[in-house]
Amino acid sequence: MKISIYGGINMFENITSGHIDSLNDILKARHSIRVFSPDPPSRREIDQIIRAGLIAPFASLPAKGRTDFRKIIVIPTNSIAMNKVLMSVNRVMPKFADELKEIAHGQPSPNRFSGPNPDAPRFSHFLGNAPYLIIAAERKGLPPTYMADQSISLSYCMYNMWLTAVSLRIGFRLISIFVHLKMGNDAEFCKLLGIPPAEFALDACAVGYPAGNYQPAHVNYPDYGSNVTWLD
Ligand SMILES: Cc1cc2nc3c(=O)[nH]c(=O)nc-3n(C[C@H](O)[C@H](O)[C@H](O)COP(=O)(O)O)c2cc1C
Repeated sequence: MKISIYGGINMFENITSGHIDSLNDILKARHSIRVFSPDPPSRREIDQIIRAGLIAPFASLPAKGRTDFRKIIVIPTNSIAMNKVLMSVNRVMPKFADELKEIAHGQPSPNRFSGPNPDAPRFSHFLGNAPYLIIAAERKGLPPTYMADQSISLSYCMYNMWLTAVSLRIGFRLISIFVHLKMGNDAEFCKLLGIPPAEFALDACAVGYPAGNYQPAHVNYPDYGSNVTWLD
């Protein structure tokens, strides 16, 4: 074990100068993949992605004294369980479409939340053709970031999984409709996932190899020159 120049045990002893280049490559290659190959990743690859999610940071109080503060549920999209997920989401979706109309105060709401007939929403639009849906659940509680139905800790969990997916050349798409629909409060849906209702915030993603000819949508990220300020 090496002793760091700052004293104590060097916790970064396995990190070499090559890692920053690899990390930069992965950060730059990360994009939302919305069309997938029909060939699914292996279970081992999906497990590597999930394990990265489990070691993402968390806000301390809801986790105090327990190790069951985060759950990951993997759902192959050709499974019977997926049909049940679809039924649950489709049951809740029309109510959300109505709420959205109210929030928008008569302005046109994003029509992807409802089909041509508002009673016929299309969950497939949010999921695409991914072979796997991964739902992450984080226990709610104090600090108040957890009282919202979107947990900040889950964003870190998702990002750990996203970067790991990229490092395995696996595509990743956030599916935030589970947050919007507050599915963590839906008793029937929580029973399906095997978690108690209203105790966990949920987020989700779709993963799979990108379709052969897939090109991610072009995105203009903020450039350094106009958007970074160093204060003296
Ligand atoms: C909080 C959050 C929620 C998102 N929800 C979705 C989603 O439900 N579906 C989707 O396709 N992309 C979703 N995205 C991805 C963004 O649309 C995407 O990251 C952004 O357009 C930039 O594109 P890029 O990921 O290819 O760099 C979400 C991103 C964030 C940060």
